[in-house]
Amino acid sequence: MASRDTLLKILDLARWAPSGDNTQPWRFEIVADDHLAIHGHDTREWCLYDFNGHASHMAHGALLETLRIAATGEGLAATWALRAGAGDKAPVFDVRLAAQPGLAADPLLPFIESRVVQRRPMRTTPLSAAQRAALAAAPGPGYAVRFFESGAERRRVAGLLWRNAYLRLTCPEAYPVHKEIIEWRTRFSKDRIPEQAVGVDGATARLMEWVMASWGRVQFFNKYLGGTIAPRVQLDYIPALACAAHVLIVPDRPAQGVEAHVRGGIAMQRLWLTAAAVGLHLQPEMTPLIFRWYARAGQTFSAVPAIAAGALALAGEFERIGGFGPDQGLTFFCRVGVSDAPRSRSLRKSVEELMLPGR
Ligand SMILES: Cc1cc2nc3c(=O)[nH]c(=O)nc-3n(C[C@H](O)[C@H](O)[C@H](O)COP(=O)(O)O)c2cc1C
Repeated sequence: MASRDTLLKILDLARWAPSGDNTQPWRFEIVADDHLAIHGHDTREWCLYDFNGHASHMAHGALLETLRIAATGEGLAATWALRAGAGDKAPVFDVRLAAQPGLAADPLLPFIESRVVQRRPMRTTPLSAAQRAALAAAPGPGYAVRFFESGAERRRVAGLLWRNAYLRLTCPEAYPVHKEIIEWRTRFSKDRIPEQAVGVDGATARLMEWVMASWGRVQFFNKYLGGTIAPRVQLDYIPALACAAHVLIVPDRPAQGVEAHVRGGIAMQRLWLTAAAVGLHLQPEMTPLIFRWYARAGQTFSAVPAIAAGALALAGEFERIGGFGPDQGLTFFCRVGVSDAPRSRSLRKSVEELMLPGR
């Protein structure tokens, strides 16, 4: 039905889907000319932020939605199903492709490759009514979209992110993750986050590289030299103020299991691509949500008791800001705004590298 070249072209676009820390937790298989299999994995064994594998499940959703959009460019309708019995650590998604004469290319298709994370300050130009309406409609049924736009709201979120970042930077279990995921002294990285896309200035980057060589250095620096201040100002506080709005995707009901998080990832990617389509950049702000997931599930993630207590306090602060209760499910949190395109970005592994061996 579709040639191997067409399938490879679709996969080549789909691989631009975002994943937490650019981990790309997927491998591709061409099963037949109308059947692709996406073999997912997760990073929970080494990545604190991959709570029960759910950040990876969201990335799987982003990939499936990107694949679906890419397929429309070839006149193909793609539908997916989670393969029974694969387990939540290695979910397999069977994607069926069907030729559909007259199928229009999805309007989000042109933005698959240009969608990017912007971690640097953006302009505070308010959202237009059209931008707000497009973002609100983007995730589709089952999700509501909340905006935190006024100066007072952005200051409240900035305070939350400031305290959240202290937790992130002083948590011993987060240290090996931060060390692993930054590719120092680079502008582009195919399997990590390049230093220049992290969002700090060059001098701070050099200091971070030196300090992050050992946990002992990090602890000393944090304790005696106010080591969390410069990164928190540059990575959290200023960007939280320098944007048009913070945007929260709220599901109708809390997500449970792989499929619900995959759907959350679809909602996330639709919002992100829509932001690109209406001239906005976006940065996910997922760590307050992820720490809250741990806190509200009563799941310990640090050997340091003060960190667990801090996560619980932050969950409460987030709930006060949003005006919701402890049982409220939250899917995705981010900031959006107008800015120039980032000079530095994460790239991707090639399709050949992402293909399951022998397929
Ligand atoms: C589920 C998920 C969570 C993410 N969380 C964050 C985050 O908290 N902060 C951040 O700066 N980027 C976050 N990202 C962005 C990824 O780091 C980014 O998408 C990846 O490195 C690829 O870069 P690109 O989106 O520019 O192509 C997240 C992405 C996903 C899919």
